[in-house]
Amino acid sequence: MYENYENQLSLYVHWPYCETKCPYCDFNSHVNENIDINNWIKSFSNQLYTMRKEFIDKNIKFKNLNTIFFGGGTPSLMPLEIIEKIIDISYNIFSFDRDIEITLEANPSSYDGKKFYALKKLGINRLSIGVQSLNNRYLKFLGRLHSIKDVDIALNEATKIFDNISVDLIYAFDGQNLVDWTNELVSFLSKNNLQHLSLYQLTIEEGTKFFKDYNNGLIRKIDNNLAAEFYDITNKVISEFEYVKYEVSNHAKKGFECIHNLNYWNSENWIGIGPGAYGRLWSSENKNRIEYQNYKNPKTWLSKNLYQTEYEKVTELNNYEADADTLTMGLRLCDGIKISKLINKSIINFNSLKKLEEQKIVSLKNNILKVNKNHIIKLNSIVDFLTNQ
Ligand SMILES: C[S@@+](CC[C@H](N)C(=O)[O-])C[C@H]1O[C@@H](n2cnc3c(N)ncnc32)[C@H](O)[C@@H]1O
Ligand code: SF4
Repeated sequence: MYENYENQLSLYVHWPYCETKCPYCDFNSHVNENIDINNWIKSFSNQLYTMRKEFIDKNIKFKNLNTIFFGGGTPSLMPLEIIEKIIDISYNIFSFDRDIEITLEANPSSYDGKKFYALKKLGINRLSIGVQSLNNRYLKFLGRLHSIKDVDIALNEATKIFDNISVDLIYAFDGQNLVDWTNELVSFLSKNNLQHLSLYQLTIEEGTKFFKDYNNGLIRKIDNNLAAEFYDITNKVISEFEYVKYEVSNHAKKGFECIHNLNYWNSENWIGIGPGAYGRLWSSENKNRIEYQNYKNPKTWLSKNLYQTEYEKVTELNNYEADADTLTMGLRLCDGIKISKLINKSIINFNSLKKLEEQKIVSLKNNILKVNKNHIIKLNSIVDFLTNQ
């Protein structure tokens, strides 16, 4: 089955701290505390060296590292010494692909021009900026610390330094006006020449402040039909600016797709270091997929990895679990997935597949299974129906 994979290897680095906790966010993010830089360097380094050793022990097949992604939390708050050390060690132990993509997530409220220069010097070559909303009223609603003016300044600085910039936006929430959103988007895209856009519809996640507000009747969920209208019009506007939609929520100018996320969606290999980060690797001996899960709490993770590496959990995914993951991740891609990647095709209910094909919701041609672009917004229910035994 290895011929179906590229044997790519990515590294995800999780930085768990933020200036404030946004009311919609259920990521592993905590308000910044005093940190001991040396201890963080030690724990990150230990994890990297251990992963390298385990690769050799488990005979995992991989090429050079082809991406690193500093995600969070707010990695633009990360001390530069830590970033530098992680990049250095990774280079020494895995060696880099010639065109390695190194992304860092930045918040418009937590950077300065000098830091952008320093990040570039350390090897960061792709910046993902959390703009989130295009008007001050909704930035406030989303609990963001920045204003539209801060966005303009951050993008202006960033474009002087980086030639690969992505922006995250959240849209389709109760009270948002479709026409206003469209106009804001058109004006934003006319003004800024960005290489990549990640556009997420607001989801009200359990455990967040928004979830409490929702249960107390303070905010409402948007109606499904309106959400679909928001999705369609957003995709239309973006395509007019020559972005190609390549995943449910992601759009790129030609050649600027996020290689790191493509490795996830294509179920390649990645390692994750830092609190709550996880990795998945194909083991070449038994053709199984191994999942490493780190301790989620930053203090626990830090202390467990200071002198030696300890994961919270290491699981060997069984064939069904590995296939379910390959299918769910792969079908997010507009180009679909090679069905030959599945270890056991019986995960697919072929009667359901036939029905979906007849309704032109999915297609299976020349080994490629894909969801029709117009139906990709219903991906979760399509995958459920397709795998329902
Ligand atoms: C790791 S998070 C944030 C990175 C960075 N700290 C920031 O806030 O810009 C990645 C992205 O997920 C999106 N996101 C997080 N929670 C969401 C939610 N409940 N609904 C929709 N999008 C969400 C946001 O667009 C965010 O930029
Ligand atoms: S959205 Fe970003 S800044 Fe806000 S809490 Fe989550 S990770 Fe932190």
